[in-house]
Amino acid sequence: MVRADPMPLAFSYDASMAKRVLHDKYFRQAKREGYLARSAYKLMEIDDKRRVIQRAGRVLDLGCAPGSWLQVLSERVGEKGTVFGVDLKGVSHEMPANVRTVRGDFTELDPAGLIESLDGAQPRFDGVFSDMAPDTSGHGDDFMSARLCGEIVDRLPMLLRKGGHCVMKVLEGGGTPELIKRCKGCFEEAKPLKPRATREISKEIFLVCKRYRPPSVPARERRQAGQPAPVPGWNTGGASRPGGGGR
Ligand SMILES: C[S@@+](CC[C@H](N)C(=O)[O-])C[C@H]1O[C@@H](n2cnc3c(N)ncnc32)[C@H](O)[C@@H]1O
Repeated sequence: MVRADPMPLAFSYDASMAKRVLHDKYFRQAKREGYLARSAYKLMEIDDKRRVIQRAGRVLDLGCAPGSWLQVLSERVGEKGTVFGVDLKGVSHEMPANVRTVRGDFTELDPAGLIESLDGAQPRFDGVFSDMAPDTSGHGDDFMSARLCGEIVDRLPMLLRKGGHCVMKVLEGGGTPELIKRCKGCFEEAKPLKPRATREISKEIFLVCKRYRPPSVPARERRQAGQPAPVPGWNTGGASRPGGGGR
């Protein structure tokens, strides 16, 4: 008879306990430091390690509610920077003056409309950040997540400036290798990172893509050739300053 060795069991119990303690640590730290969610520490770690948030930059936060990434982005771009957030849900917490939010489905909003609503000469963002997560069903979540990231990559020519950076959350699975391959084709660097604040059992990773190389074909021609045609929304959706009626 084969006897089970109790050591591995004892070890894995300790490891999961340690992870739980770590999770609680980030939860408590977020409360103490005034962040709306522990996800704030994921973005901080990503930026500390990969330097993706540009000081005084204009950045887009996709799936921004309840708002902890907005808080981190606002701090790190500083007073001279601007943060635009989009989410299906409203952002109810009051945000700093350099943050604007709009409520809506990212895939149905018109990137051109958003760009038009920006002031200034540079008609693209310096960084695009996505913590979006599709509703999980337990079946094919990884593919839905990769597809949502694909929707972002489709729109980058209209959203991200040459040399800009992009961070996307994706649930690791069947669609991930193709997504990474695609990102490697349009960024100088595209590497996954799993921050410490992400639970060990979670399938989420962050694809950190640096220095965008936009395709040479203009966006309008790509749209005519069958790329997704954006529908109006950014302007009519009411981009606004939270605290002044922002949703
Ligand atoms: C994990 S939460 C984001 C947490 C946020 N980064 C923070 O730190 O507070 C994921 C968000 O993605 C949003 N989301 C999912 N699909 C979306 C879509 N197609 N368009 C806009 N937001 C979406 C959800 O409404 C949800 O609020």
